[in-house]
Amino acid sequence: MSHFEALLPSSGQSYLDGSWRPAISGKTYQVFNPWNREQIALVPKMGQDDVHVAVRAAHQAWPAWRDRLAADRALILMRWHDLILEHRAELAELMVVEQGKPLAEARGEISYGASFIKWFAEEATRANGAILPSFGHGRQLMVTKQPVGVVGAITPWNFPNAMITRKCAPALAAGCTIVIKPAEDTPLSALALVRLAEQAGFPPGVINLITTDREGAAEVGETLCLHPIVRKVGFTGSTEIGKRVMAHAASTVKRVSLELGGNAPFIIFDDARQDLAIKGLFMSKFRNAGQTCICANRIFVHRSRLAAFSELICARLKSFKLGFGMDKGVNMGPLINKRAIQRAQLLVKRAIEEGAQVLAGGRTLNQNLEDDEAGMFFEPTVLTEVSQEMEIAQSELFAPIVTLIPFDEESEVVEMANRTPYGLAAYFFTEDYRRIWRVSSALEYGMVAVNDGALSNRIAPFGGVKESGIGREGSSWGLDEFLEMKYIMLGGLEASGN
Ligand code: SIN
Repeated sequence: MSHFEALLPSSGQSYLDGSWRPAISGKTYQVFNPWNREQIALVPKMGQDDVHVAVRAAHQAWPAWRDRLAADRALILMRWHDLILEHRAELAELMVVEQGKPLAEARGEISYGASFIKWFAEEATRANGAILPSFGHGRQLMVTKQPVGVVGAITPWNFPNAMITRKCAPALAAGCTIVIKPAEDTPLSALALVRLAEQAGFPPGVINLITTDREGAAEVGETLCLHPIVRKVGFTGSTEIGKRVMAHAASTVKRVSLELGGNAPFIIFDDARQDLAIKGLFMSKFRNAGQTCICANRIFVHRSRLAAFSELICARLKSFKLGFGMDKGVNMGPLINKRAIQRAQLLVKRAIEEGAQVLAGGRTLNQNLEDDEAGMFFEPTVLTEVSQEMEIAQSELFAPIVTLIPFDEESEVVEMANRTPYGLAAYFFTEDYRRIWRVSSALEYGMVAVNDGALSNRIAPFGGVKESGIGREGSSWGLDEFLEMKYIMLGGLEASGN
């Protein structure tokens, strides 16, 4: 028995209204290890009826949860945080088996995920209102903050732990109750998190989990987004699905937070420090095998540095180890599923047809790391002679592909960087402090990293502009996403005439 199995419920059960139960239909679906496609578990294939049960339970649990002292909610959140860290090893192993990322990255994600719970446990007690200077005598103007109500959280497979905690922790801290729909490929990390939440002492109905497969995802997602009782939806995923979430939410004027796709420019200026740029590139590009929405997507290199950088990247990739994430020294795991592999293959094929040159990689491999059309791995790939106009430069890659695009002038590269509907994360490397300010201001992105390849943490606001989304997660602003402002005017306070 693997260590993580003790964290999972009995086969075919999920958590609704404070109890572990099967789908109303009794249906289940299989979850696979992306490394070898072996089945690892059966989980409920839930549908519309289960969502109604979950939403009703969350609605019933809401008043009592909302009316607790913020400090009491914070205590339960902190117990959840502590339990997660106590079980970090098993949760990380489960993530490797279910999602494919290497163990060190999985461990990192468990700590990253837990950090949002601690952060928002602390923020819970700071949902301050205000008393405003009044416009007239005898009237006090007050602003209070109240939880929005029942929240739907639709989360992705690339960070099966942290994208749940980054939504649930602020929602629960604010006094909301929640219905989570994890991605169909990675429901097990969600089940384990919810089991620990149950142990931490969240009352029945406060957290509910709806698992379903790819076929059922649209029905479950739509039901959550259309449901009149659900007052807010937090979603991380593609821009395409995000637009649907927003359209459905509009029918009941729900609030939404959307963390959507990206097409991050990664700009290496002529004066960039080589060590920082290379370290940053590997950190950003190959994290989670290139499957993050903030991964470096278009690598703009000043023409004078292109040859040297291309050589360095290819040389470093020679010692890159692909494999099962539990094996020692593995730098990169498989892609999540066959669709992901096929998409990467197609993007590279079309780029070559459009004139790109392959400097490294480009092949699909099976788990024994031989060429194999049906493989799970996509080799880290370096393409040069790429231009901003090519399909590959306009697409969110979600694969370990480095696309090298030369540039000559600062104004030219900033214009190219901004020429995309996306606006999530951007990176650039330079030693010129004036340029740092100029380029940071000119980039139309929600997050900009200068001389670094990693920018995610609990403290800073995570989110994008343009078609990369609405709202921010993490940070002190992240709590406001789950709070409504209420203005209260208290009149009749003039001194009485008697
Ligand atoms: C994502 O790619 O969805 C999130 C990445 C992060 O939190 O760093």
